[in-house]
Amino acid sequence: MQQLLAQDARHYSTFRLPANLARVTEVESLEMLQAYQPSTPPLILGEGSNSIFLTDWQGDILRYVAANVIWQPEDDVLLLHAEAGCNWHQLVQSTVSEGWWGLENLALIPGSVGAAPVQNIGAYGVELADCCIYVDFFDWHSRKVQRFTSEQCNFGYRDSVFKTSLSGQGVIVAVGLKLQRKSQPHLSYKGLDHLPPDCSPAEVMEAVIAIRQSKLPDPSVLANCGSFFKNPILSFSQFKHLLNEYPSVPNYPQPNQNYKVAAAWLIEQVGLKGYRHGEVGCYPLQPLVLVNYGGGTAEQLREMIALIQQSVLKKFAIMLEPEVRLLNQHD
Ligand code: FAD
Ligand code: EPU
Repeated sequence: MQQLLAQDARHYSTFRLPANLARVTEVESLEMLQAYQPSTPPLILGEGSNSIFLTDWQGDILRYVAANVIWQPEDDVLLLHAEAGCNWHQLVQSTVSEGWWGLENLALIPGSVGAAPVQNIGAYGVELADCCIYVDFFDWHSRKVQRFTSEQCNFGYRDSVFKTSLSGQGVIVAVGLKLQRKSQPHLSYKGLDHLPPDCSPAEVMEAVIAIRQSKLPDPSVLANCGSFFKNPILSFSQFKHLLNEYPSVPNYPQPNQNYKVAAAWLIEQVGLKGYRHGEVGCYPLQPLVLVNYGGGTAEQLREMIALIQQSVLKKFAIMLEPEVRLLNQHD
């Protein structure tokens, strides 16, 4: 167990706003986690690619960094038990290079395995829920690891039980995944539909990486946390009203006659694509991604969020909700 004091938040969030973190503890095993007993439940952090510090943070911060992976191949199925501290994309690459289907559409998503179930990471027609069979969760109260089946995780769009009722209750220590030797590729996303139906998982992964690199900024070059807002989900009547006025709104039918609409399009329509406020801006190639050009401040980010939300609300009567986790010590 390693305790790091007075840390610079820019090393712990890919949005890189300046802030001081009083104490970050890195825990490397379950035994050490048993021994870790902070006075109040800590803030859990993975690789910080979906977390932004708006203020200094005085409380304890925990990173669970155990990173072993157990492979259990059985005929045409691979069961993977991956500890939370593994890097997600490295795990994807290692399975795809062995020819296993399941994770190829989720390539190049930054961050850790432990964070993947929290918002049920998703991209290009696939989400973690499609191959996750369990999540192992260390509960602060019982101080035991409890296994949640995929059903118990209550996965939804950018949502799970770990973001709702279990938030602050413990830490994800491992994730169980089920991959397949034979499968149909998921090629429904527009940029993947040129691939032949008999393509390999590696070909899908390469195509996904090419799409991502063409429109998403690399956080190691330009600070960002990916999509800043969720794509809003509208009821049938809200959606019909919107479609009447704006027939070209990109939309995706959801269960229960709901419709998801593209937040990137809404932001572009209010004229904010490429807009810059100080050192913070809407990325010119994908306006749903907010970027920090270098010297961005929490105040600039707050003002930018308010400008986007108010502009979209005024024109479309839709309130955009942040997808990233905004951390404010005073909340
Ligand atoms: P962090 O930011 O460190 O934490 C995120 C949340 O998970 C926090 O609430 C934290 O408390 C919690 N958490 C982390 N580890 C644990 C744990 N062990 N136990 C309990 N809770 C934990 N996301 C997508 O879904 N799809 C995308 O296509 C996508 N593209 C992105 C592209 C870019 C360029 C960037 C920068 C981000 C993108 N994201 C995407 C968002 C991000 O990659 C994911 O949310 C990722 O899962 C975050 O991992 P992390 O380890 O960095 O999480
Ligand atoms: N669009 C515009 N203008 C633009 C860009 C996009 O109008 O400048 C419209 C287009 O119609 C496009 C649509 O928006 O078809 C959707 O854009 P895109 O396919 O780039 O995806 P997104 O909806 O903006 C979501 C996820 C991403 C994920 C991609 C691919 C959310 C909040 N975001 O983005 O996840 O990688 O789909 O599946 O659901 C993340 O969560 O951080 C993230 C990057």
